[in-house]
Amino acid sequence: MEEILVTGGTGYIGSHTVVELIESGYKPIIVDDFRNSKPFILDRLAEITGEEITQYKLDCADEEALSEVFEKHPNIAGVIHFAADKAVGESAINPLKYYDNNIGGLVTVLKVLLKFKVQHFVFSSSCTVYGEPESPVVIESTPIQNAASPYGDTKIICERIIQNTVQANPNFNATLLRYFNPIGAHPSALIGELPQGIPNNLVPYITQTANGIRESLTVYGDDYPTEDGTCIRDYIHVVDLAKAHVNAIKWLSNEPAGVVEAFNIGTGKGSSVLEIIRTFEAVNQLKIKYAIGPKRAGDVIQIYANPTKAKTVLNWTAKYTIADALKHSWNWEKSLLTLK
Ligand code: WQD
Repeated sequence: MEEILVTGGTGYIGSHTVVELIESGYKPIIVDDFRNSKPFILDRLAEITGEEITQYKLDCADEEALSEVFEKHPNIAGVIHFAADKAVGESAINPLKYYDNNIGGLVTVLKVLLKFKVQHFVFSSSCTVYGEPESPVVIESTPIQNAASPYGDTKIICERIIQNTVQANPNFNATLLRYFNPIGAHPSALIGELPQGIPNNLVPYITQTANGIRESLTVYGDDYPTEDGTCIRDYIHVVDLAKAHVNAIKWLSNEPAGVVEAFNIGTGKGSSVLEIIRTFEAVNQLKIKYAIGPKRAGDVIQIYANPTKAKTVLNWTAKYTIADALKHSWNWEKSLLTLK
């Protein structure tokens, strides 16, 4: 059974990917320092999969500690690297935290991957690398712009680091998965998003407003040049996103060393902020209190994926609808109310 190391494996996307790896016959090994997740997620993963999952509590920027994991597990075939900070707003306030953790962490993981001759690498990138695109529908060859935040900047820099590293050491291959907007939770409602503090992202803010943790949602601007005046994004169910990582690992296993490919992991459909609110209300039969507020610095007007390359090359397409994701996110939020 192929062993795959998953950094940040108890995080939002990491935990859902661990489930999909197990369900596809892989043996995931989690490294996580729980700075942006909680240890109880490990019990939930065991409950969903019926497997006890090997995990090590460590910062993947700690080269010595990470090397010890590879010494214990000499057959690790691939690494999926999620461990990074991801709050756009916070990165503008504290850019050095983002450069240190996101870039420093990647450099260490790549050094260890080379040292132990690991063959495959999947990187968690983001549509933010496209900045404010000329056309709202982006393909992988759309020019990489100056990102709208230090967070997005780290993703651009990390992609370049991976490309240069593979070029200099063509004995491993890599995929750069450019996520659009991950939303939703596992249908079991046993794992989902665990924002630390006030949610930066739209959907967790909606679910926390729905369950009374937040007084009201602020819609950041309704006079953008879009149909209803609010920004448009490509919201993708986190389980669909997780499955894309398994397809990427499978694809890399049949590709020669030296290959590096970027993929848009999105649905190809754009939804506005107001559409998300309306859909959440309809599918969960409740009302969300919201008010229109000022625009948020760094927001792009609209961006969504052309996901053709992932479909034709990775044999991957998103299957869940926005309604599914918003139902699952509400079920997860409600489950947190009963958390001991
Ligand atoms: C979506 C829309 C907001 C909150 C970022 C990262 C991206 C990815 C997802 C990691 C925007 C509006 C939001 C709120 C609002 N990160 N909004 N009120 O900024 O598109 O993407 O998160 O994987 O890499 O860039 O996501 O959910 O913050 O915002 O009106 O309280 O919702 O203005 O139009 P974003 P988001």
